[in-house]
Formats: sequence, structure tokens, C-alpha cells
Amino acid sequence: MTAMAQALAEFRTHFGGEPEGVWEAPGRVNLIGEHTDYNGGLVLPIALPQRTYAAVRRRRDDLVQLASAGMPLTKPVHLADIAPGQPADWARYPAGVLWALAEAGYAVGGVDVAFASDVPVGAGLSSSAAIEGAMGAAASDLFGLGLLAGDAGRAKLAAVCQRAENHIAGAPTGGMDQAAALRSQAEHALYLDCSDGSVTHVPFRLSGPGLALLVIDTRAEHSNSAGEYGARRADCERACERLGIASLREVSAADLPTALARLGDERLVKRVRHVVTETERVRLAVQALNADDFAELGRLFIDSHASMRDDYEISCEELDVAVLAVLEAGALGARMTGGGFGGSAIGLVYAGAVAAAQECVRTAFAAKGFAEPAFIVAEAGGPGGRTRVPRGA
Ligand code: GLA
Repeated sequence: MTAMAQALAEFRTHFGGEPEGVWEAPGRVNLIGEHTDYNGGLVLPIALPQRTYAAVRRRRDDLVQLASAGMPLTKPVHLADIAPGQPADWARYPAGVLWALAEAGYAVGGVDVAFASDVPVGAGLSSSAAIEGAMGAAASDLFGLGLLAGDAGRAKLAAVCQRAENHIAGAPTGGMDQAAALRSQAEHALYLDCSDGSVTHVPFRLSGPGLALLVIDTRAEHSNSAGEYGARRADCERACERLGIASLREVSAADLPTALARLGDERLVKRVRHVVTETERVRLAVQALNADDFAELGRLFIDSHASMRDDYEISCEELDVAVLAVLEAGALGARMTGGGFGGSAIGLVYAGAVAAAQECVRTAFAAKGFAEPAFIVAEAGGPGGRTRVPRGA
């Protein structure tokens, strides 16, 4: 059964009758630009074809009731009772979106929602932003908010979803994942400037040059709400204070040596060096993509991984082993992607060598006694929105 069909089936089982519609939003893979979003920097994610579906019907009252494939029905919560940490578990993400919409002055009401997803959960592919995006898209259409019609509305909705994640789910993330879920274009990477929210869509089709983007889910634990992500953010804020600037984006690659000399703290030096060089690598990656220079893109991936491993210190053994194994299998480049401390790595590999690269990673993982990794060959999918449900589905 497809995830869309599963969302419909869950809806009928838990709520009876038919939903008013189905909405969807994708997971994402970030090509390059890690931990730059909350520093006003540049990022370059693609939306995945894998998505989360939400079958939704408005209620006459202000209750929010949520179902998800394979989970018990959540306890209904009044819109007015949604608050930091409430409701618990995964329900915080969709409930948080309704809270953030109301906070932003949009009139929303109660809903029954059934979710199903084919975005791998816990793989660092933004399954939470996919839930938020699907809920936000549904609310926009059902409550007549009109936020899906153009990029300006979608940018507002992405910001609402980020607020849900920050305030209700308690994860101090930047806005990259929600932008990828709602503002991407199929067959393009989303070049997002987090200093002003502007986007450019960069063509991203690897089949022409005979390449593929292999995503390796290391199955290693990761969590953005856990302390390390917040600790990196706090380091960046401390560095900004010392430099007397509002955001690390104000430090250009040319200014970097002077800025580092003023920090006087080895840890902050490493953090700032990562953030500033990483934004520069995003700029160069876009140039490389526009010039079909995939060898250069691969080199930038390799430098980015080294910077995350050595300076930002957000990699882990599984990610390093995965990156090394695909490179040994002949990949043009490889890096960890997402928040770090586990989750997924990506490799830019020749299309004909995908199976061999997977085998290389499997062998390396087995030798280390790690869990069996999982793989996706990623393509750039379209943004979230209303799902066209086939008749009779
Ligand atoms: C997580 C966060 C994003 C971003 C990345 C790191 O995915 O949700 O906002 O900070 O980590 O680039």
C-alpha cells in the first residue's frame, strides 16, 4: 500500500467517513551548507520524492485529534491547550503548526488528521519537517489562508512550521528543513539565503552526467533537541558577541583570519571557521552545479565533511566510516548531511557504481560491528501541497 493510501485507510479506521482531502510534504537531503541556516548563511537542500501524507477533515469544535500509521490514536487536545511540550511525542509537530498559525494571527479550528509517511524516520532526512509541512499545507487550504499560492506565502508557512518546531517541539533548529519541504522545485536544488529568506532554484539532474546521489542511513542515533545541537548554536552566539556582530554571516571568507584572531578561544575558532567556510562552499557548489562541474562538487563535499568532523565536531564514527567507504568505492565526493551525530551521509557516485558503493559501505559497517545501513538513491522532488487523490482510492 502506498503511504497516501495508508493515510486514507488510517483516517477511515479512526475517524470514519472521508477526509476533505490529502496533503503532503517531502523529507529533504541537504547537498551542502550544514549548520549555516541559523547563522544567516547559505544552504542547498533538495526535497525528496519520499513524503508524509495527511488525510484531514475539519471538526466543528476546537479539538485536534491525530492518528499515525502504526501508532495509537492521540488524546484529543484543545487548540488553546497546545503549549511547549504539549502534546507529547510526535503529535507536537502537527499540533505545533496549528498553534503557530494561530499565534501568527491566522484563524484555524479543530481537525482530525491521519498521517502516513515513506520518509525514513530518524535518518536525518527531516521527517518532522515533512509532518509540519503536510499539516501546514492542509490548514492553509482548509481554513482558506491562501499560503500555498506563491513563494511569499510558502515562505510564511515555512516560518510558521519552524516556530512550531522551535517552540512546541523544543528543537532549536534553523529554517532549512521547512523551506525545503515547502519552497523546493522538482529537479532543482533549493539555494536558500538564510539572511533574507531569498531562494534560487538550481537545476539538479544527475542522470544526464551518469551520476547518482546515494543516501546512506547509518542507523546511528541522532536527535536535534538533544544538547549538542543547541550547544553548537550557543557557541555561534557567543562568537557573535565577542565579535560584536549580529550573525556569523557578517564574516566573509576574506575577513575570516582577522575574525578568528579576535576570538581568543580555540573551540570558538573551530566553530566559526566551519560556519564561514561552509557558506563559502555552498556558493562554490552552486557555481559548480551551474557549470556541470561534478568533480568540483565532489571536492566540496569532501572538504565540507572534514570541516564538520574536525571543526564543528558533529560527525560520528558511523558517518566517517560511511563517507570513507563510498569514497574508496570511487565516489566523487561524500559528506554527512543534516544535523549530525548520526543520521545519514551522502555520496556522489557514478550511476553504474551504486550497487558496488552500497556493498562497500555494508562491508565496512559489518567489519566494525555497526547496525546494517539502509540506502536511498535521492532525486529532487517537488514541494508540499495538496495531493491529487485518484478516484476510488
Ligand atoms: C537540522 C536542522 C536544520 C539545520 C541542520 C544542519 O536538520 O533542523 O535547521 O540546522 O540540522 O544544517
